[in-house]
Amino acid sequence: MIVCHCQLISDHDINAAIDWMRCADEAAIITPGKIYHALGKSPECGGCMKLFVVKMRANTNLEVPAELRGLRSEQARRSIGHEGRSKGNRVSQQSAAS
Ligand code: FES
Repeated sequence: MIVCHCQLISDHDINAAIDWMRCADEAAIITPGKIYHALGKSPECGGCMKLFVVKMRANTNLEVPAELRGLRSEQARRSIGHEGRSKGNRVSQQSAAS
């Protein structure tokens, strides 16, 4: 099945690229961009990305390496309620204090 019509990439090509990358590096983070690069191509219109990612996720070799799992939830937990600024810089709190 052709997934990317601009570059004529099939689901077989996607699976072959994922399998090849996983064999080359067990800890690799595999992205659509890396798959295009491995196939010697680059996306043009981007209209295929949703289906492209669905086909990627169907491959069992796409798993995130165990040592990298849970990082997003850890970072999200840290950023809850914190916008990266000190509270003293908020205009609403400055006017309330004076
Ligand atoms: S259909 Fe894949 S980049 Fe256009």
